Amino acid sequence: MKQDPSNRANQFVSLKAALFVSILLFIFAVGASAFRKDAPVKEVSLNIINRDSTESVKAFETVYKTLMSPRCMNCHPAGNVPLQGDDSHLHAMAPKRGVEGKGVSAMKCSNCHQETNTPGLHMPPGNPEWHLPPATMKMVFEGKSAHELAEQLMDKKKNGNKDIKKLIEHADDGLVLAGWNPGEGRTLPPVTHAEFKKAWITWLQTGAYAPKK
Ligand code: HEC
Ligand code: HEC
Repeated sequence: MKQDPSNRANQFVSLKAALFVSILLFIFAVGASAFRKDAPVKEVSLNIINRDSTESVKAFETVYKTLMSPRCMNCHPAGNVPLQGDDSHLHAMAPKRGVEGKGVSAMKCSNCHQETNTPGLHMPPGNPEWHLPPATMKMVFEGKSAHELAEQLMDKKKNGNKDIKKLIEHADDGLVLAGWNPGEGRTLPPVTHAEFKKAWITWLQTGAYAPKK
């Protein structure tokens, strides 16, 4: 078969063009796959940024000693009666939890606990939401080891179906903040609210590891 030289030149040009296009596609594909590798990291940064069991367990030490301090534990008792004082004794007159955690009939928490702290020694601390966790989700701190408490906090069946984002938000809950405004004559939690919040977020974002014990 006889070939026209100009036709040949055309074939050569289109071959070059095809090669050029495939090189472009290759560069693009490599670039895109590199981009794909980065993407999930961005997606999860709201949740767990960096799994690190050592850092996580260390942060939980601060979280645990705060939760077990009387300002927090007194509302997270093992039984159905709140605790009082720095020695966490049973609440005088034993007001009961009730289904919603707000007390029963004549012993509603809000009968005595006002919207703000009542001034004076041994007067009731106040908050518009003052109540225990409900009967269906007691969120017991009293008597729990660090291991047990960490597991309980991460269990959606026991923490009010909270994911990591909601748990992080809980650090600024009104009743949590109440711990740092305890009313006259009561000691503060062992660390500042900012320190607690930092440890809480670090614990959650590094994988929420439970200490061995
Ligand atoms: C007046 C009672 C009261 C005090 C004081 C209190 N809590 Fe709670 N806490 C609750 C209630 C009620 C819940 C259940 C969740 C809800 O209803 O928001 C809860 C739940 C929690 C939870 C589990 C997350 C959840 O929503 O289930 C954590 C963590 C927590 N509290 C931390 C603290 C810390 C830290 C302190 C002390 C600085 C504290 N609490 C003091 C009443 C209290
Ligand atoms: C009859 C009044 C009364 C009722 C009802 C009542 N309380 Fe109290 N509560 C007090 C008084 C007074 C104090 C302060 C006692 C003191 O400091 O010696 C107190 C203290 C507390 C404390 C200790 C706070 C701290 O930081 O140590 C908690 C927790 C508490 N009450 C929870 C409740 C809950 C939850 C209810 C409802 C289930 C409730 N109380 C019902 C009067 C009452």
